Amino acid sequence: MEKSKRNSFSGSIGFVLAAAGSAVGLGNIWRFPYLAAKDGGGMFLFVYIILALTFGFTLLITEVSIGRKTKQSPLTAYGVLNKKWKFLGVIACTVPAIILPYYCAIGGWVTKYLWVYISGNGSSAASDGYFTDFISSGAQPVTAMIIFLAAVAFIVFRGVNKGIEALSKILMPLLLLLVVGISVFSLTISHTDESGVTRTGLEGLSVYVIPNFEGMTVHGFLNVLIDAMGQLFFSLSVAMGIMITYGSYVSDGANLKKSINQIEIFDTAVAFLAGVMIIPAVFTFAGSEGMAASGPGLMFVTLPKVFSKMGVIGNIMGGLFFAMVLFAALTSAVSIMEAVVSSFIDKFKLSRNKATVIVTLIALAVGLAVCFGYNVLYFELPLPNGATAQILDVMDYVSNNLLMPLVAIGTCILIGWVIKPQTVIDEVEKTGVKMGRKRLYIVMIKFIAPVLLAVLFIKSLGVF
Ligand code: ALA
Repeated sequence: MEKSKRNSFSGSIGFVLAAAGSAVGLGNIWRFPYLAAKDGGGMFLFVYIILALTFGFTLLITEVSIGRKTKQSPLTAYGVLNKKWKFLGVIACTVPAIILPYYCAIGGWVTKYLWVYISGNGSSAASDGYFTDFISSGAQPVTAMIIFLAAVAFIVFRGVNKGIEALSKILMPLLLLLVVGISVFSLTISHTDESGVTRTGLEGLSVYVIPNFEGMTVHGFLNVLIDAMGQLFFSLSVAMGIMITYGSYVSDGANLKKSINQIEIFDTAVAFLAGVMIIPAVFTFAGSEGMAASGPGLMFVTLPKVFSKMGVIGNIMGGLFFAMVLFAALTSAVSIMEAVVSSFIDKFKLSRNKATVIVTLIALAVGLAVCFGYNVLYFELPLPNGATAQILDVMDYVSNNLLMPLVAIGTCILIGWVIKPQTVIDEVEKTGVKMGRKRLYIVMIKFIAPVLLAVLFIKSLGVF
């Protein structure tokens, strides 16, 4: 067995960009805009921002502090805090292990779409049935998944500084540039359809940001709250072991409070701007009905149709858009793999190279099953939350809807009641900075967060 020295980020910027790179991912770009459109636009945004400042802040600062305090990745960190809570580390490490293969399958889809636009064939991606034909075609999605997974493995293989940090320092500024550029473009477009109706990007923006309370009931509001909370989880990369892992690479002298604020602002801004990129464009070219497409459908089916209606510029915008999505997906997938690799290194004292090879092979095997889930292994499984699932959706449901709330509830109980919130506060304040929102933090971690999480978990079981 080889013993390896623990890496660390070279400074706060490296940490913030790597963590923001992890946070900003597929969740921000296809899921956030769709949920915002479905859940009354501005109202969803408002609820989301309030939750990010309270609930998101609580979970993020807790996980980063656990990482920095224990200098361990999730599999072993919980056991270091309290021996009886080792089991939580196992669940926390299982989450990224489940997410990695299907995230790489979707990353492969993004890679394929980028290639389609780069090679000037954007209009073919707009034809009916293109997406379904592609994902069920066997060899193509498998090849795309392998290319994406190989890129992720290569970065993780290179380690925390030369891999993760170096990649984030290049891709995150580029991503921000693309996001802002595409958003501005989206706001300037207008289109007149066959029936003579003209819609503009700015009208689309108002659909996105102005709250729509029409027909809103208490049950409806609860649904918005639950959607926003579920989204926040995935988006901030909490309850999947990642922030513990990245926290373990942060130096003891770093100002955690400042870094956490920056990560939250970055993630929320990109999620908001993803809506500004997508919703006005879809509204302008496809009307309100176009917004009804959900999840992967929005990004892989509706948007190519929108790009094709823009003519030549659509091909360029499509290329830039999928390049941006690829950057976001890559930095997130790297963090997901790193959480598992780092756990294997800490637990089994493996070298980084060995751990990366093992995790990549497992992800490859499961990733193949995910790809074949749309052809030879196709089934339709009704889930407790009402969705009809293939392999990818089952894995997504188990990780996001069941295990992540459990990890987060466990973390709140462990910190709030067993080892006490002061442990986290001390960790944040050990550099001499005041934590801020301290009382809020204590109330959130002990009471509000576990109750909200329990409601989220029960809803996932389809109880209401
Ligand atoms: N936080 C990452 C995302 O939003 C996992 O996709």
